[in-house]
Amino acid sequence: MTTAPGTAQGLAPEASGDVSPDSAPGDGPSAYEAAFEAAIAADERVEPRDWMPDAYRSTLVRQIAQHAHSEIIGMQPEANWITRAPSLRRKAILMAKVQDEAGHGLYLYSAAETLGTGRDELLDKLHSGRQKYSSIFNYPTLTWADVGAIGWLVDGAAITNQVPLCRCSYGPYARAMVRICKEESFHQRQGYELLLALSRGTPAQHGMAQDAVDRWWWPSLMMFGPPDEASAHSAQSMAWKIKRHSNDELRQRFVDICVPQAKSLGLTLPDPALRWNEERGHHDFGPIDWEEFHEVLRGNGPCNAQRIDRRRRAHEEGAWVREAAAAYAAKHGARAAGRASDSDRDSARSSDGGSDSGHARTDGEAGA
Ligand SMILES: [Fe+2]
Ligand SMILES: [Fe+2]
Repeated sequence: MTTAPGTAQGLAPEASGDVSPDSAPGDGPSAYEAAFEAAIAADERVEPRDWMPDAYRSTLVRQIAQHAHSEIIGMQPEANWITRAPSLRRKAILMAKVQDEAGHGLYLYSAAETLGTGRDELLDKLHSGRQKYSSIFNYPTLTWADVGAIGWLVDGAAITNQVPLCRCSYGPYARAMVRICKEESFHQRQGYELLLALSRGTPAQHGMAQDAVDRWWWPSLMMFGPPDEASAHSAQSMAWKIKRHSNDELRQRFVDICVPQAKSLGLTLPDPALRWNEERGHHDFGPIDWEEFHEVLRGNGPCNAQRIDRRRRAHEEGAWVREAAAAYAAKHGARAAGRASDSDRDSARSSDGGSDSGHARTDGEAGA
């Protein structure tokens, strides 16, 4: 959807002359609402200047903000290993990945801004605990193998979640996801490759890789959110085509992808109930400890306090950068405005000059 609401059917409500967004009706949706619903039904994109229901807007802001916060908080557990990466090659790869995550945060805050919510406001909500980020980042990275397990499992789960978001009904979010998914795919492969090197290394290295997978497997499954029957926002998000698949569907897809990959890695997934179910055409897996999930969500995970403290501190320490950038933008803006008024004056002068030369030419012509 690239135009004003209503134009999906070739007619803006205004054009009909009898509808306004406030004229909602006692007995039916307004023309704006009907146009929005029709665009969603036709799989068109909703764009920032289109009319949209308040609840659609606030759902998107909440989801995009949570996603953006997860990207930037997610930099912390891995950044922890940049100085200790075992080789220059590994260090360069990890730095590139952590920088990518910062970039993902920036695209997503920009996408949220198109909905009328400023970055300052979102960061303030993150820092004061009023908005969440993915609980997975509240677990510690205890060994170098955790960097591999995060890439393989956490970025892998993120891709499974995010590929369908490339078709999300809100245009700026969908477009941001296209690039993000390409980069996430690099992240997933670097994690897999790192774990493979460890798994084929010494028995101690293999043990370290297995231990990391043992610790990250279940939290990765929790990344898809609560089971469908307990998921508060899922049904409406699916009706609006923000979400395309349910939490449980995506979780199952992820398990099915990971099982053969774990086999190629020579590592075991820590779930004795994991087995192929011929009838369903999927892997069955054991029950998830939702109590642990809720505890981490409530702020009682191993690293919740540390992550948010570090984030607040980084924000405070970065104040001078924001101030310098704002001062530069103001100075640059003032100069540009000065140049614009100079060039207005010049063009006023040259148009005077133009008429002089015009006179001259006229005179000349007259004289010819
Ligand atoms: Fe990311
Ligand atoms: Fe990533």
